[in-house]
Amino acid sequence: MIKFPKDFLWGAATSAPQTEGAALADGKSPSTWDKWFEMEPELFFDQVGPNDTSNVYYQYKEDVALMKKMDMNSYRTSIAWTRLLPDGKTLNPKAVEFYRNYFQEMLDNGVEPIINLFHFDMPWWLMEKGGWEARESVDHFAFYAKTAFEQFGDLIKTWATFNEPLVHIECGYMGDAHWPKVRDFKRAIQVGYHTMLAHAKAVEAYRTNPHNDGKIGIILNLSPVYAKSEEPADQEARHKADLIYIRSFVDTVALGYFPEELIEMLRESDLLPTTIAGDRAIFENNIVDYVGVNYYQPLRVQAPENPVFPAQSPGAWARGYNWPEKRINPHRGWEIFPEGIYTIAMRMKNDYGNMPWFISENGMGVEGEEQFMDENGIIQDDYRIEFLEEHLEYLAKAIEEGSNCFGYHMWTFSDCWSWLNAYKNRYGYYRINRDDNYRRSDKASSYWMKNVINQHGFTR
Ligand code: BG6
Repeated sequence: MIKFPKDFLWGAATSAPQTEGAALADGKSPSTWDKWFEMEPELFFDQVGPNDTSNVYYQYKEDVALMKKMDMNSYRTSIAWTRLLPDGKTLNPKAVEFYRNYFQEMLDNGVEPIINLFHFDMPWWLMEKGGWEARESVDHFAFYAKTAFEQFGDLIKTWATFNEPLVHIECGYMGDAHWPKVRDFKRAIQVGYHTMLAHAKAVEAYRTNPHNDGKIGIILNLSPVYAKSEEPADQEARHKADLIYIRSFVDTVALGYFPEELIEMLRESDLLPTTIAGDRAIFENNIVDYVGVNYYQPLRVQAPENPVFPAQSPGAWARGYNWPEKRINPHRGWEIFPEGIYTIAMRMKNDYGNMPWFISENGMGVEGEEQFMDENGIIQDDYRIEFLEEHLEYLAKAIEEGSNCFGYHMWTFSDCWSWLNAYKNRYGYYRINRDDNYRRSDKASSYWMKNVINQHGFTR
């Protein structure tokens, strides 16, 4: 039997912009996603935008009933900054009412709400001032965080500041999957710096109020880095990629500052961000209580070909490598490598003082799932059950070997809107039937997971 601790957190994760809908209802102001969809709807799969997600703003009770049906004991979502403080300063009473009702409904049904503050949804009014490139966004975020703690701190005992900061940096400033879709490595580094500073200031805001008696952390997407070979050049590329994609985030939140070696690399390429005296102490004094780890796939690298300095992209230090033994999820194109969860789990144990952590996302997106619906209307998602089994087996092994993991949340609960991909890839334990008033229906994985939760494990 593959066993998990009795008090393990079992649940699922999602975010406000991917589920709530009601994008401009009851005083909410637009985020970059709302505006971007208004400007270029053709970029979004099937032209489904953020106003038309899973209607959770109006149907949250249905989801909570299903959480209870599955015997989940925890659930992560986020607060929409644009709903709580539409202009960045003025509290929206309708938002307070909605979130309090939603969180209370979970608590009344034995589900602990774990609440994140920022899931890629930059307010439009702040983006117009420069978004995370502008230093002022750091203080705006700290004010938003403080407001959220004051309004919901009696209900919420586990907070996260950001979800996957790497993603809005990479997709927005080194790619075109997030607004403002520019490609500029130096600007990306500044955005990253301000994001991490905003995170540390939110932790500071939490700790300075004695009424806050819970814990606060951050959710990071961590892809363990594997090198093509044992050759020194490939190993060096692995080390550098690890500094950029893992240590620049985990060291900063868990040890209190960016790795010196990374700072040196950036200095040599004239990429250092603008900082202010006193920033360093903010990082040092505000390390997290826990880290949430989103694990989807590993990163495979080799030495760069003809590296050009100053660096124009992380490719100057390491380039991708197509591992021939790769198993791929054909729908999303991501590698399936369950062992990666073990690598990262042992890393948290060995390099970060056995920091408490949990799997805050892991899951499998599948296109065209309706083809697996049986005569009773249940999606027979055996592929997802297999994915869960394989990953959980490696997670259990790491826990047995002393990694301090306190939970597992699958991405996601009921199918949600996935940014530019909208409803292309479905990830949930429950299907959202969007053309039938957003009706929720079962997938076999929800029954499988209910058993795992009740038996604290499973047999393979
Ligand atoms: C994570 C994000 O990166 O992966 C989610 O936190 C996202 O917001 C999920 O939806 C799945 O990725 P995608 O791009 O298939 O939606």
